[in-house]
Amino acid sequence: MKKTITILLFATIAIMNMGTVLASSGGYPLAAANVNVDDKESLQRGAKVFSEYCLSCHSAKFVRFNRVATDLDMTEGEVMENLNHLGVKFGSTMTAVMTDEYAKEAFGAVPPDLSLVARSRGVDWLYTYLVSFYKDSTKTTGHNNAIFKDVGMPNIFWKQEGVKEAVYEEHDGVKTLTGLKVVEKGTMSPEEFDTMVRDLVAFLSYIGEPNQSYRKSLGIYVLIFLFIFFGVAYAMKKDYWKDVH
Ligand code: HEC
Repeated sequence: MKKTITILLFATIAIMNMGTVLASSGGYPLAAANVNVDDKESLQRGAKVFSEYCLSCHSAKFVRFNRVATDLDMTEGEVMENLNHLGVKFGSTMTAVMTDEYAKEAFGAVPPDLSLVARSRGVDWLYTYLVSFYKDSTKTTGHNNAIFKDVGMPNIFWKQEGVKEAVYEEHDGVKTLTGLKVVEKGTMSPEEFDTMVRDLVAFLSYIGEPNQSYRKSLGIYVLIFLFIFFGVAYAMKKDYWKDVH
């Protein structure tokens, strides 16, 4: 009996972890994003940051403004004023201001649609990416990124975060990037900046799967049901077999 329960527990844990995305960081350690998609206020702030800082280049074509309003408890007025800078209809999707052709010319790469990026990259990768830009004068943007080498995206938050420089360690003549250090302070305190990035990543996680809060709460009920059902089935099995043994 003990063995069966242990196997069942391991199987459950394995199934629950199947959705985890494995993202590569090229050896640089990923920091935990620690986002909470059930925190509506954090998502609302994240949505604002997204529309102010990202929507100029990136779109989120699977996301409609009116859906965001419903899910994040925002009114139509709040969404139209705070998130919809292009002034498109309330039922429209979040489309970038910049055209792909212009972006390709300006940055050498088209900014990808961010609707599903939290699912393809994982939230920890996203968080680490956004806080890992560092000064690199050999690049046209003036910055590079510790987990996205030679990235085409400019360092959007350099004013708020401040400027960072790479720290290298050398072993047997091989130089590896091991960390970053702030060399010029930003306009935000490190705590304020961190909260802003986590809110933004929470929003990106939400748009990647708008139903995730519901799915998770439903999952718990399904597990409780399975657990009770297992008990009933086991009791029945014992009863049926008692005359055989
Ligand atoms: C000035 C234009 C511009 C802005 C503003 C911008 N990005 Fe980007 N972003 C890019 C470009 C260009 C790339 C493609 C980089 C490459 O492939 O080298 C990119 C790539 C990315 C990627 C990597 C996607 C992947 O899976 O490869 C993420 C994530 C991302 N941006 C997030 C953001 C977020 C979040 C914001 C808002 C804070 C933002 N970007 C603002 C231009 C921009």
